[in-house]
Amino acid sequence: MAQVKFFSGQQFPLEMHKVRIIQKLNLLPIEERLEAIQGAGYNTFLLQNQDVFLDMLTDSGVNAMSQEQQAAMFRADDAYAGSATYTRLHNKLVEIFGMEYFLPAHQGRAAENILSRSLIRPDTFIPMNYHFTTTKQHIVVNGGTVLELIAPEGLEVESEHPFKGNFDVPALRQLIADEGAEKISFVRMEAGTNLIGGQPFSLDNLEEVSAVCREHGIPLVLDASLLADNLYFMKVREERCRDMSIAEITRAMADASDIVYFSARKLGFGRGGGICIREESLYKQMRGLVPMFEGFLTYGGMSVREMEAITVGLDETLDFDMINQGPQFIEYMVRELAKRGVPVITPPGGLGAHVNAMKFLEHVPQQQYPAGALASAIFLASGVRGMERGTMSEQRDPDGVEPLADMELVRLALPRRVFTLSQVNYAVDRIDWLYQRRDLIGGMRWVEEPEILRFFYGRLEPVTDWPTRLMEEFRKDFGDSL
Ligand code: F0G
Repeated sequence: MAQVKFFSGQQFPLEMHKVRIIQKLNLLPIEERLEAIQGAGYNTFLLQNQDVFLDMLTDSGVNAMSQEQQAAMFRADDAYAGSATYTRLHNKLVEIFGMEYFLPAHQGRAAENILSRSLIRPDTFIPMNYHFTTTKQHIVVNGGTVLELIAPEGLEVESEHPFKGNFDVPALRQLIADEGAEKISFVRMEAGTNLIGGQPFSLDNLEEVSAVCREHGIPLVLDASLLADNLYFMKVREERCRDMSIAEITRAMADASDIVYFSARKLGFGRGGGICIREESLYKQMRGLVPMFEGFLTYGGMSVREMEAITVGLDETLDFDMINQGPQFIEYMVRELAKRGVPVITPPGGLGAHVNAMKFLEHVPQQQYPAGALASAIFLASGVRGMERGTMSEQRDPDGVEPLADMELVRLALPRRVFTLSQVNYAVDRIDWLYQRRDLIGGMRWVEEPEILRFFYGRLEPVTDWPTRLMEEFRKDFGDSL
């Protein structure tokens, strides 16, 4: 892990790759951005990509591939059953995680479907450090109850705690004492905990959770979708990991777990997913669902080209110079925003920069979706597309009551190896401007509210005509420039 030092004493991220394929971007004038966001029902998921300048919606399936990945895609072995491509992927996973069995799935949530259908017993709990949206849905439809046992510091928005994704181990012990181990179908640990700002857990913490699970015979499931970021943070923030290679840390994480599943739209700079399993009995319990929902056992809904790209991408995940770009850019963006007073989640995590909308828009009540309003305002001000991660991303209770999220965040994801530092600086500049004009931003209300995963395709409108006022202010400050 060689660190580059700069003569000026200034420290900024330095890419250890160069860009050889580009995609031209469009930056629309603000009047057209207003039309675009109106047309999208003020839901950034419904924007057309051609209307977006910097797409920071997600890092899912949009990370840049390496030349080695693209080269490998050419040698893909197309076969319905038993392709050499599948064997290469399977062998790579065995090499990395040391688990003998693998079930392919077309993406992360498909793996969650299989896990939830086969492992959840009726009326049981699934404790986890924190839920992810699709994970929770699968658990709930299969009769399980999600319990979030995140260590208390995890929900402190501004902190310098290095491992805010840590599991509350005493709470797990208490739960087992109160309810009995048989009331727990499995325990889930999410690497790079998505919804609390891409925050990692420590290797020590994972091993403590593992010890409790093993003592009581409860399977421990690791969601490794955001493994690369978690590995980076273990390496730079956890003393015992400093002298371990990324491969060794990965193996230690897998050794603590019984099942490792992942979205390869994130892990391995690819598109796809799967489940690695240590025990044959668990493998057999799940296997039958793959041909039913995904595809045959040796492709699981993925194309052979995707599988080749993942195989190479997994190797790149073990290379510190390949996985440090994301977290270092995110740290830069978070610190630059914080310098300008913009409320952000700290310490910087993986995945992206997370703006604290609850504090940014203190005057907007949570029932009017401050994070949703801020995501729209950021698009208007900059053409940058972020994602609401707050109350809109929650689901109403069966009685219609709307649970308010713990945090109201706008996530500005930084897909790996995609954006340049000047693009990050542009986003920071526009968010700084918006923060100075935050009083102009108002709330949102639903026009169309779907029952399930409403944030994906619901439509909203502003409660007042604040977007037009914001546009007028932009014109005053920026003249007729973009
Ligand atoms: N687990 C985690 C931690 C995730 O972040 C995601 C996806 C999934 C599971 C589901 O994987 O999308 O391949 O089905 N996160 C994406 C995001 C959607 O934008 O954060 P998937």
